[in-house]
Amino acid sequence: MKAERYFERTGSVNALPPRAYFVPSGNEHDAFDGRSGDRFTSLNGTWKIEKYESILDVPDNFCELKPSGEIPVPSCVQLHGMDKNQYVNVWYPIPYDPPFVPNENPTYHYQKTFKLGKNRERTYIVFEGVDSCFYLYINGKFVGFSQISHRISEFDITDFTAPGENKIDMLVLKWGYGTYFEDQDKLRFTGIIRDVYLLNRPEEHIENYAIETSMDGTVKFRHLGGAKAEVTFLKQTKEVSEGEEITFKVEEPRLWSAEDPYLYNLVIKCNGEYIGEKVGIRTSEVKGGVYYLNGKPIKLMGVNRHDFNPHTGAAVTLNDILTDLRLMKELNVNAIRTSHYPSCPEFYKLCDRYGFYVISESDLECHGVTTRDPYIDYFKGFDHMADDERYEAEIVERQKHNVIVNRNRPCVIIWSLGNESGYGKCIEAAAEYVKSEDKTRPVHYEGASHIDKAENEEKYYSTPLDFRSFMYPGYEEFAALKDDKKEKLPVILCEYCHAMGNGPGDFKEYWDTINASDRYAGAFVWEWCDHSLIIDGKHYYGGDFGENLHDGNFCVDGIMSSEREITPKAFEMKKAYEPVFMTFDGNVLKIRSRQYFQPINALLTVIYKNDGKEFGRKQQPVSLAPNEEIEVGLVGSHVKIASLTLTEDKGLLTDGHEIARSGHTDDGCFKKGEVAVCEVVFADNGRFIEATAEDTKFTIDKTSGEICSIVGKCGEILSSPLSFNVWRAPIDNDRNTTSWKAERLRYLRSEAREIEITDSAVKVKGILCCAPFAPAVGYEAEYSFKVDRVDIKVDYKAAEYVKDLPSIGFITSLDKSFNDVKYYGFGPNESYIDRRLSSIKDVYETTVDKMEVKYVKPQENGSRYGTEFMEITDGKTAITVEGNFSFSALPHSVFDYTDNMHDHELPERTATHLRIDFYMSGVGSHSCGPELKKCYAVPLSGRGEISVAVSEKNK
Ligand code: GAL
Ligand code: MG
Repeated sequence: MKAERYFERTGSVNALPPRAYFVPSGNEHDAFDGRSGDRFTSLNGTWKIEKYESILDVPDNFCELKPSGEIPVPSCVQLHGMDKNQYVNVWYPIPYDPPFVPNENPTYHYQKTFKLGKNRERTYIVFEGVDSCFYLYINGKFVGFSQISHRISEFDITDFTAPGENKIDMLVLKWGYGTYFEDQDKLRFTGIIRDVYLLNRPEEHIENYAIETSMDGTVKFRHLGGAKAEVTFLKQTKEVSEGEEITFKVEEPRLWSAEDPYLYNLVIKCNGEYIGEKVGIRTSEVKGGVYYLNGKPIKLMGVNRHDFNPHTGAAVTLNDILTDLRLMKELNVNAIRTSHYPSCPEFYKLCDRYGFYVISESDLECHGVTTRDPYIDYFKGFDHMADDERYEAEIVERQKHNVIVNRNRPCVIIWSLGNESGYGKCIEAAAEYVKSEDKTRPVHYEGASHIDKAENEEKYYSTPLDFRSFMYPGYEEFAALKDDKKEKLPVILCEYCHAMGNGPGDFKEYWDTINASDRYAGAFVWEWCDHSLIIDGKHYYGGDFGENLHDGNFCVDGIMSSEREITPKAFEMKKAYEPVFMTFDGNVLKIRSRQYFQPINALLTVIYKNDGKEFGRKQQPVSLAPNEEIEVGLVGSHVKIASLTLTEDKGLLTDGHEIARSGHTDDGCFKKGEVAVCEVVFADNGRFIEATAEDTKFTIDKTSGEICSIVGKCGEILSSPLSFNVWRAPIDNDRNTTSWKAERLRYLRSEAREIEITDSAVKVKGILCCAPFAPAVGYEAEYSFKVDRVDIKVDYKAAEYVKDLPSIGFITSLDKSFNDVKYYGFGPNESYIDRRLSSIKDVYETTVDKMEVKYVKPQENGSRYGTEFMEITDGKTAITVEGNFSFSALPHSVFDYTDNMHDHELPERTATHLRIDFYMSGVGSHSCGPELKKCYAVPLSGRGEISVAVSEKNK
């Protein structure tokens, strides 16, 4: 087809200028629900579709042809077998050659018919999102062209249509000029990804308006275009014409906040149209280096949210969005950054209604400029487009489709110019534009933090932005920001706690800092959910679709799974974001509200436990004014657990929902099992030493110095030796795997060098080693035998060349009938030295299957930190371990988790795999975040002590 190549330049053709989002209705009754009203006709549903390899393949008369396939709209073509999926993060999916895109640019001919009645007035067609750009034809005539995937494109098609049947033909292109500005880290989808509908509007109508409020109750309505309208607010009606503004005043206004999302009704009436607006009265501003909402220095407890559904990709339903919002509320999230493009307009209405603070981000990311040549200096390359005025129009244009569209939503408290696009003239122009268009909200953009402060101090401190925004800073660097005297901006983390795989281990690190000063406005977890696609019940990610350019499982980095299961890491976030601080101070529980506007009315339940048994619980209603602290007297016990639950439904939350939970466990309250000594009978048989201690026979293999057999009354217990082990299946945050691999740590095995038998013990001097290296770890172990028990003491020291140890301890395997687990340690979920805010040290019962946390890419999981006692049993025999350790008992071995790339590739369970770690490395968030803090790493020399005992069950 010979078409104008609009897709290789900036701008749209014949699309109407952006306006505030609203759906008018023909009657007052539907004013607030225009989509149910009589002026709205949805065009979602089945469309016809034909794929062409290139727009050049499309015949000139394509509108006359009937496409051979069908596709639901909205949807992504990749998920309907029409193209391969591709996941890329930083780099561009096409050769970097702006404004050109590949000539083989898959082009989709979409077709649909619709009927119009006789009594129509003006007819508009609205597309809420088409990735990446499209030509629109109605009844065979070219109407226009639009690009920017997450913008609303509206066309007046009155003159192209007639009563009766009409036909839409569209050519949707995979790539366009916008591809250079939409390099967001995500699966790259194509198609009509959001709703399509018609609006029937009167000849003369209101086109655009802005609503602005202030804390004193002033509600300003600015008429920005179109016919004269009547505006009714709190029973007062005023007329307003284009260019004018009117104000209303609410005495003692009830302010909007995420804590109390109170909305007032405003109705616009104009030539038979009714438009309902829910108005939240609030202010959002930065003053003196602090961010204030309604005058209070609130904290944004945020997540980054993409539109994503593991089955339908970027095409999400309102129900999908509502599911996200409900889960976010359940997890105490109060803020969302719409990474990295505006969400669909109804999303914002839900956030208004249920109470979320939104950073609405423009559809802009030019990250791929940093990788446009294979040797480029990443940071030097970053400003390439941002500082080139050829791109200014496009970068500014992209702001309009965020600000003008969503400006009437109280939930939007901050505008974000985009993500990872570098810094320069175009960004400054974008900031200026946004500020001139909307003076009621501060502006955010993280890219300015990459200005080299040392080289360009003045520029760094004088950017036209309202926040100093970072992603993934070092903990100390972050904490030092409040003391930077030159810094005049409040600090925000637009991304932190990179939630990829097992992690993140840094909620506490960051929030201790954020809570300590009003200069920190809050932080947004990267990211809300995994982006693995689920096909036939299995999870897939980058590289699974045959792409030769991809970023593997970097899209599987959510705090929630892609199907929105609450993961152990999500509980950690919930804890960091609790609306109260609860602290145990002796026999006093202090509860302080972290809210700013609303009282907290909840039921407090305190559970008292000794030795794993509950001996009492007390409930009482509590009511806390904002920031109030109350004290509750407690009685003495080893373990105290305090839980706050709602006593009525509240927005998306239901009566009984737990909003906060804290526990306190006395140190040293665990009583070790009775230890009886007995005569130990040794037999030294060539390779093996047998030690019989009452009813149990332990065998030590002299080659390895390890216990290779434990025979109790019911026979052999171990399926494999109790082997020294330093390996853990690398988690995504284990960037040190380069040294682990270079040092071949997974192959280390123990060699005994000296063995000595004493009265009741065997002492081993040995090494952990593998070819071709010198020993990696030297150790001295002592096995002391008591009645049906062995006490193991190990002193170890890593060789100088060893940079880092994943863990140190033992692994073994047992028959899979060993399934029931009981422990006293940090639970009930997976816990690590740096990820246990939400864990309480207590006695828990679980099973091997339940202990496993299935990460899409298999990795170390299921550990329980700070364990002093664990027991595992098959119902007949029990093994108990005492000491101070981390452990896991899992259906798969450490090597199964190491060697498989997808959870669905893990083999059937054949055994129970037990690991006891004197030390287990923290999890951190190094996949994208800072290096693991030293205090959470495994010491390179140290001592471990455990006792392993065998007993009969039910005896
Ligand atoms: C950030 C980026 C996100 C995502 C993340 C890594 O740099 O803004 O979009 O790519 O890193 O998962
Ligand atoms: Mg990026």
